[in-house]
Amino acid sequence: MSRRRVAVLISGRGSNMAALIEAAKQPDYPAEIVLVLSNRPDAGGLATAQANGIATAVVDHKIYGKDRAAFESAMQAELAKHRIELVCLAGFMRLLTPNFVGAWSERMLNIHPALLPSFKGLDTHKRAIETGVKLHGATVHFVVPEMDSGPIIAQGAVAVHDDDTEHTLGARVIKVEHRLYPLALRLVAEGRVRVEGNRCLTHESTPLDAIFIAPSER
Ligand code: GRF
Repeated sequence: MSRRRVAVLISGRGSNMAALIEAAKQPDYPAEIVLVLSNRPDAGGLATAQANGIATAVVDHKIYGKDRAAFESAMQAELAKHRIELVCLAGFMRLLTPNFVGAWSERMLNIHPALLPSFKGLDTHKRAIETGVKLHGATVHFVVPEMDSGPIIAQGAVAVHDDDTEHTLGARVIKVEHRLYPLALRLVAEGRVRVEGNRCLTHESTPLDAIFIAPSER
């Protein structure tokens, strides 16, 4: 079976990108990471990608100023050059226009550090603690024009402890993210999901532990 060609888009350290690269080293993984694209030349993840022999590209948004269309067409050109089939946003900190999002409809994934639809936006761990939720976690979803929305592919939950800080809770969530993103990309690359309206439905043969990660005790 040919593997889906994936680009990971980053803006920073790229720990989720690294988790995807590691997962894709498994011979039976249905996707390969062929490009890491950053909008920031100083993104730490670029070096990690290069160390793994993966092509990198920088499309610096600052060069394009307010011209989002030009920024996005430069990204599209990179994606086309590498014959990309699926895009994974992993800490990519630019809002994308409906035009770009539409071009990648049901082929672009994002990971968000909360159990959506709770806690869209920033500072999710702080807000989870302040709200007093007992479960928190991460979500991988298809990207739609509205931020942190879109059909949910997979979710991973962690327990929230009474003495958690933003930092301790965030550390628990990022560990789940690193397990969750490879699992979600696998579902999509294997063609096990289909979108119906706002929902992402998973083929009935798929085991539940391929769709969500339940919290462990600690
Ligand atoms: C992650 O928490 C991800 O959920 C969010 O941005 C962060 C990126 O971290 N979208 P990293 O660059 O993958 O380490």
